[in-house]
Order: sequence, then C-alpha cells, then structure tokens
Amino acid sequence: MATLAHELRNPLAPMRNVVDLLHLKNFADPQMLWARDVLDRQMTQMTHLVDGLLEVSRISEGKITLRREVLDLATALKYAAEACQPIVTAASHTLTVELPHQPIFINADPTRFSQIVQNLLNNAAKYTPNGGAIWLTVRREDEQAVISVRDNGIGIATEHLPSLFEIFTQLDAGLERSQGGLGIGLSLVRTLTELHGGSVSAHSAGAGLGSEIIVRFPLSNEPSATAISHVSDLPARNAARRRVLIVDDNEDAAESLAMLLQAEGYDALTASDGRTGIRIADEFSAEAIILDIGLPDMTGYEVAQAVRQSQPGKSALVIALTGWGQKQDKQDAELAGCDFHFTKPVDLERLLAILADGSVDPGA
Ligand SMILES: Nc1ncnc2c1ncn2[C@@H]1O[C@H](COP(=O)(O)OP(=O)(O)O)[C@@H](O)[C@H]1O
Ligand SMILES: [Mg+2]
Repeated sequence: MATLAHELRNPLAPMRNVVDLLHLKNFADPQMLWARDVLDRQMTQMTHLVDGLLEVSRISEGKITLRREVLDLATALKYAAEACQPIVTAASHTLTVELPHQPIFINADPTRFSQIVQNLLNNAAKYTPNGGAIWLTVRREDEQAVISVRDNGIGIATEHLPSLFEIFTQLDAGLERSQGGLGIGLSLVRTLTELHGGSVSAHSAGAGLGSEIIVRFPLSNEPSATAISHVSDLPARNAARRRVLIVDDNEDAAESLAMLLQAEGYDALTASDGRTGIRIADEFSAEAIILDIGLPDMTGYEVAQAVRQSQPGKSALVIALTGWGQKQDKQDAELAGCDFHFTKPVDLERLLAILADGSVDPGA
C-alpha cells in the first residue's frame, strides 16, 4: 500500500501545481472559475485518500510513533471543531461543543488526537442529512476522559455496530453519503486511540435514529504549563528574489512548479536528470534547489551531495521532494545535505515560506 500511495502521489504533484497556478489567474468566465474549483476540491479529496492509504500501511506495519504531550482537552477539541467547521457549515448543521468547567488533561499526540476527533466530526457531518445537529462533548469519568461525538443523522443498525471499526467497512445505508471515502476513518480512530491506551465504542438506537461514537482516554494527572498552542506561524513572505532550480524527471511536475514560482516572482529553471541538474545549479548559481529523488541517472541525494561540493551549492537551500514521506526518507535527505524534506504534492504555502526565509529549522 505504501508503494501504491507513492506511485499515486507522482501524478498528483503536477496536478496540484497546475491547480495552484490557476488560482493565480484572473478568469472572466465564471465557468472557468467553477471548473478550477471543482478540480481543486477533487484533487484535495484524492490527496486525502492517498494519505489515508499511506497511514493505514504505516499503522499496519507498526510504524507510527506517538509524540505525546500533556494536552488540555478544551483547547485541543476547540481546534478540532474549528478545523471541521467548513464542512459542518456547508451542510447547514449546527455543531454544539460542550466543554467541562474544570480543565481535563490527557497525555496524547496532538496531531493524532486531532485526527481522531476530526474523523468523527467528519463522519457525523457526512452521515447526517443537511440541517442536522452534532454534539461534541467531553466529561470526566473515574480516571478517564470521555469524548463523545453524537449526531441526529442516519444512524447505524444494531447488527452493524460490532464491525464498524474494522478497516474498509462501509455500510449500505451510508454509501450514497460516503463522498468517496474508503472506510478507513473509523479504523484509524480505533487504532490511534488504542495506541494511546484508550478505547472506542459506537452506539445507535437504529437506522434513522442518530449515532454516537465515544472515545475514552486515560487522564493525565499532571496539568501542564506547556499545554498546547498549535498555531502555524509561517514566516512572512518577503519579496527577495531567489534563483530556484527544479530537478525532476517528471517534466510536467518540474514545469508546473517552475511556472508557479515564476508567477510568485522567482527566477526558476528546470532540469530533468541529475547531471544536467548539477551543471545548471553551478552555471545559474542556484540559490535554492528542489530535488526529486528518483532520477534516471542518479538519485536526488547524490545530486545534493555533488551540489554541496561546489561554491554556489554550499550555501544553496536544498529541498528534497519525494513521494515517500517515511521517517527513513527524511533521515536520508538530511544525511545527503538537504535542508528540507517535502512530500508530494508540495504544500505551496510552506514551500514559499521556506524560500522566503531559508533559515527556518529543518523539519519544522
Ligand atoms: N456518524 C455516523 N452515522 C452513521 N453511520 C456512520 C457514522 N460514522 C460512520 N458511519 C458508517 O461507518 C462507515 C465507516 O466509517 P469510516 O471508517 O469513517 O469510513 P468512510 O467515512 O470513509 O465511509 C461509514 O461508511 C458509514 O457507513
Ligand atoms: Mg469517515
């Protein structure tokens, strides 16, 4: 599955670039705008599916490590609810969040915790006819934090409750509402929760009668001063031009990324193999080099090492761009002298931030 996800990411990368590029154009024709937005939404959906597959393969190989910290549930739930607000609003649902008066702390990986809650809220929004109601509540019960996501939607027939958390389970009743899901979400919820020492359960009085998914987490007894504040503060973009070289044998990917960067005021060139890349990096005194790893004549890591030997290459910002987002790839990239490692399709906002301010900590 990891290989499949990787292969799917390759065509996704140039498609994403082209869509981002279309966002920089002004269209007079409303139909063009609409077409662009359809592409954008569907691509985002496809990227989520691919990410989901990759997640599942990592989990099944036991490759997930939790980065736990003491989480203030009120804050963590508020962020997760905010992240889901767009789809809740789009379906005209009302989301009621009930937080406890006393703070509750758990010991959890903030990213994973957010993934759990967002999956549940997403499902509640999907499997509830428009204009429904969703409740996100948390309470303390003995030594556990009990988080409930409840809705007044299509419900779950009693006989299906036991298999609900199994991977690739999709119930007939919900199929037309599944919006291209794969039946991965709840299995991720269960695995991630259990990795934290917690448990999950599903409740419904039956078809048409709404559903409730309950997640239990062990409490952490140390309240903390470092309770999360996960705000992404990307550095401000500055107008400083940078000469950027993109080395990628997928010419659509290289060209589309170059066009995007040119549209943002960068001087961008492309090369489609390693040797040409090394030559151009030197001639062009590239200030930033974006490297695909699987190249026809050598690996991107070898290109990075070669570039590092030359004078202009020493101080260049080197960014590895691969379909693989595994830990090992990040380590390989670092060893080869890359400053950053990106997974395809590239997150343009983050790439621009890094190009504008190359001093950000690698891996930040
Ligand atoms: N809140 C809910 N109400 C009714 N059915 C649900 C709800 N959440 C999940 N389901 C059912 O459980 C199945 C599995 O959910 P999930 O693993 O998230 O997969 P997906 O949403 O991709 O189909 C869904 O396809 C749906 O049939
Ligand atoms: Mg789902």
